[in-house]
Amino acid sequence: MKNLFCVKDKVIVITGATGVLGTPMVLHFAEQGAKVAIIARRKEAGEELEKRVKKAGGEACFLQADVLDKDALENCYTRLMERYGQIDVLINCAGGNMAGATIPPDKTIFDLDMNAFGKVVDLNLFGTVLPTMIFCRAMTEQKKGSIINVASESALRPLTRVAGYGVAKAAVVNFTQYMCGELARKYGDGLRVNAIAPGFFLTEQNRTLLTNPDGSLTDRSKTILAHTPFNRFGEPEELLGALQWLASDASSFVTGSVTVIDGGFDAFSI
Ligand SMILES: NC(=O)c1ccc[n+]([C@@H]2O[C@H](COP(=O)([O-])OP(=O)(O)OC[C@H]3O[C@@H](n4cnc5c(N)ncnc54)[C@H](O)[C@@H]3O)[C@@H](O)[C@H]2O)c1
Repeated sequence: MKNLFCVKDKVIVITGATGVLGTPMVLHFAEQGAKVAIIARRKEAGEELEKRVKKAGGEACFLQADVLDKDALENCYTRLMERYGQIDVLINCAGGNMAGATIPPDKTIFDLDMNAFGKVVDLNLFGTVLPTMIFCRAMTEQKKGSIINVASESALRPLTRVAGYGVAKAAVVNFTQYMCGELARKYGDGLRVNAIAPGFFLTEQNRTLLTNPDGSLTDRSKTILAHTPFNRFGEPEELLGALQWLASDASSFVTGSVTVIDGGFDAFSI
């Protein structure tokens, strides 16, 4: 029987691949028979993850790049095309909030550090736009490909304190919708661009916002959970089903969409 969700032999490029959410994506898609390109800044972590995949019998290659470094990304593109000759899926996962871009509870918008605000927009927005422009060239030649951007709940509803992060992720959603039209109208209906909007997952980038140094939940965490019908944070593995759907031909008529994965946070009022 044909497996609608098959990703076997697809070349899947993942940025921010050694992060808390990126790592399970790499392991999952390799286990599903995809060839996974691990794009990451940290050499040791990238090589380690590549080894882990290979030890489990999968195929992966680590390519070192900062998502804001055009030359490094071009180099990754060339090496990837030499190695696999195609790129089927791009998951723009690199991103995150930055401590300096968060407004502390005792401060206001007038205290916003514009430098940090700019950096968080650079990473989340330009760190999505640049890899898209580079890796999707193969997709336009193939007339087929799926780009999946990692937005956030904060793109849909501004969350207190993380002003820059929310603005940047909202722009990622807008860019997703823009690219849906741009690619399909110019290169055909094989090209799809979607986003996922994860709710709250406890990871390094939000650890100080969500937990106290002793590991207990902050007041912010308690407020989040009170507003989440499932009353818990998500587990990184809970993103994989939606990603597999968007990466595979099962979603062949889906483009420009934002899939919310949040235990009901976005839908819930009182
Ligand atoms: N954790 C959550 O609750 C949550 C919720 C919604 C969205 N997200 C998004 O999910 C994605 C993954 O985040 P995570 O929670 O795994 O955090 P993480 O910090 O563990 O992973 C982010 C990864 O991006 C990498 N990265 C950062 N800057 C980079 C750069 N300039 N070039 C290349 N790589 C860079 C980091 O090294 C890290 O490996 C991010 O886009 C984040 O905004 C996370």
